[in-house]
Formats: sequence, structure tokens, C-alpha cells
Amino acid sequence: MDWGLRNRLSRIIKPTDGRTVMLAVDHGYFLGPIRRLEQPGETVAPLVPYADALMLTRGVLRNCIDAATAVPVVLRVSGGSSIVGGDLANETITTSMREAVRLNVSAVALSVFVGSDYEHQTLANLARLVDEGEACGVPVLAVTAVGKELEKRDARYLGLCCRIAAELGAHFVKTYYCEDFEHVTESCPVPVVIAGGPKLDTDLDALQLAHAALQQGAVGVDMGRNVWQSDHPVPMIRALRAVVHEGAAPEEAHELLVELKHATETQPV
Ligand code: R5P
Repeated sequence: MDWGLRNRLSRIIKPTDGRTVMLAVDHGYFLGPIRRLEQPGETVAPLVPYADALMLTRGVLRNCIDAATAVPVVLRVSGGSSIVGGDLANETITTSMREAVRLNVSAVALSVFVGSDYEHQTLANLARLVDEGEACGVPVLAVTAVGKELEKRDARYLGLCCRIAAELGAHFVKTYYCEDFEHVTESCPVPVVIAGGPKLDTDLDALQLAHAALQQGAVGVDMGRNVWQSDHPVPMIRALRAVVHEGAAPEEAHELLVELKHATETQPV
């Protein structure tokens, strides 16, 4: 791997412990203004100090994020479909590598839809993006299985998706946690991060999900809804950091969350 590419990747996956807490706020690219992400800038601002990287689109980056920020950016560069339109898997590359470099991002991300009608198209997108990323020193994050493909969220399917993405050259892969998750990580030769998926019933559930994924070989999380749709987003991301970077047990991290929540509530105005 080229020096520039390794350097960019090390801004996201921290060399101190080989782990990362990425904050995903790219959902609007096909879902529009979903709950608690109606104004992305306001949602993200208090969370930025606790995120190792932000995953978003160029529109939100340009319009809602302070250009003086030091947080590394993982730029979503695929899209072209919406929740009310045709097949969500029908994605193209929406942002050029030149633009990504101009925006000084640390990585680019795109979705692949293995097993869908658009399998070939999205895998070809990935291969092309890897060629372009390698030429510019920009790592590529492949995001597996969103939308309709969620139904197939088991280790056999996700292991297949992650392995194919890695074989095509993705430098790291994002997928979903599932039963027998170690099968997914063990057969994928590049780092794996997990998405949180739709908001779980409790914050503790999300902390347990992150913990289980790390125990089974994930290098971290790229979570969105389970952080910013929590009623306590800042305590939640800080608790997540305790799990990912400090090896805290989920219950221990949840105690921290409760303490931080109380501290915020009792702060003098
Ligand atoms: C999905 O299309 C996006 O790439 C999200 O970034 C991803 O689903 C992670 O967010 P969440 O934790 O909310 O699932």
C-alpha cells in the first residue's frame, strides 16, 4: 500500500489501537431528511469531538461542516436512487475522485449490492473507484448490503459480500453484525467496521452490538442512527468510544452514559 494511502487510512483507523469510531451521517443521500438528521450540521456539531471520522456526502460536507475541522472525512461517492424511486441498488458514482481529493478527504465510500440486479454495476463501480483511489492515495470503503439486501443479513451472505469487496481491492469494508460474525471477519483480508442499522430499543443494545462485533474481529463501528437518534447522543458516542477504544464492557459503558447524562442534566444554566 502506498504511503499516502496508508497515511489517510491511519487517520481513520487509529494506529494506537487499530480501532475506530466513525460517525455515519450520509443517510440523506437516499432517505432525505430522516429523523434527527433534518439539520445535519446541528446534529453533528456536538458529536464531532468524539468521532474518529465522519461519513457523509459532499453536499452536507460543504454546507454543514466547518472547513476548519480536523476530523477526517469519509466521503460517500455513490448514489443515484431514492427511497421513493426505483431500485435502491441502482447506484452510480456521484462524486469524482478529483473532487474527493479537492475536498481533502481521508477516504471515499460506496455501496455494493451483491446478489441484486445491480450486482455487476456496483461491483464495477468499486473496481473503478479502487483504481482511481490507488492512483491518488485515497482509500476506498465498500459498504455492503443496504436496502432490500438487508433481508439476507447472515454470515454466509455478508461474508461473501465482504470477501468480494476485498478481492476487488476495497481497503476496508463496512457491513452489518450478524450471528457467527467471526466467519465474516476471518474470511475478509481487510479491516471490517459495522453499521448500527435502524435504531435499536435501547442504547445498551447498541453498545452490546458494538462490543460483540469487536470481540469477533471488527476494528470498529461506523454508526449513525443508534448515536444521533439516541435521546442522549453525546453520552452515547462517548460510551461507544469506551467500548471501542478502552475495551469497556457494554454494561460498564452504559454506566458511563448514565453518569454523563446526569452530569448534563444537573449542569447549571
Ligand atoms: C447507509 O446507507 C449508510 O451508508 C449509513 O452510513 C449506514 O447505514 C450506517 O448508519 P447506521 O448505523 O444508521 O445504519
